[in-house]
Amino acid sequence: MKIAVLVGSLRKESITRKVARAIEAVTPELTFVHVELGDLPLYNEDLETDAPPAAWTGFRAATKDVDGFLFATPEYNRSVPGALKNALDVGSRPYGSSVFSKKPGAVVSVSPGALGGFGANHHLRQSLVFLDVPVLQQPEMYVGNAGKLFDGDTLTNDATRALFTKFGAAFTAWVKRHYAK
Ligand code: FNR
Repeated sequence: MKIAVLVGSLRKESITRKVARAIEAVTPELTFVHVELGDLPLYNEDLETDAPPAAWTGFRAATKDVDGFLFATPEYNRSVPGALKNALDVGSRPYGSSVFSKKPGAVVSVSPGALGGFGANHHLRQSLVFLDVPVLQQPEMYVGNAGKLFDGDTLTNDATRALFTKFGAAFTAWVKRHYAK
């Protein structure tokens, strides 16, 4: 089962991307594919013609046939970064051809702060309701103080690894449940 990973941070040393990779490492039954968001032109209905921007077409093609989505997001001003919201908008159109519809998803929010991106996590969930993505409810995943969890790219906190393993197992079961339908 193939899962598209959408990481809401575009920067090279993103902690959010490290968290996504660490979750993937302890979730062996799913195949994860990171899909680039940074080159998507801002959504504009005027561009939704017979020849939309190539980056939009590429994003839609890369996500159309996946079996689920892992949304990994930092928090920008208590919400999701514009890059991730733009990807949701691009993937949701043209009307009736959304790449997200009815695909199982999971949300992980990440912050170097103590609140773990709670605001971003729940703003994202609001959009996912409209996009008809059945989202894993438990365990919720707010990764706070995330700057202290890694040495380079390596996760060094055993309690966090145990939590990621539990989350990965729950997400695997969630995807399987929807895959069977
Ligand atoms: C932030 N940051 C931030 N952190 C947070 O916990 N809540 C917030 O509302 C915000 N707001 C915010 C806005 C903007 C524009 C930036 C650039 C940053 C800090 C943010 O969590 C921090 O930069 C993370 O390291 C970003 O995630 P990546 O890029 O490391 O994955």
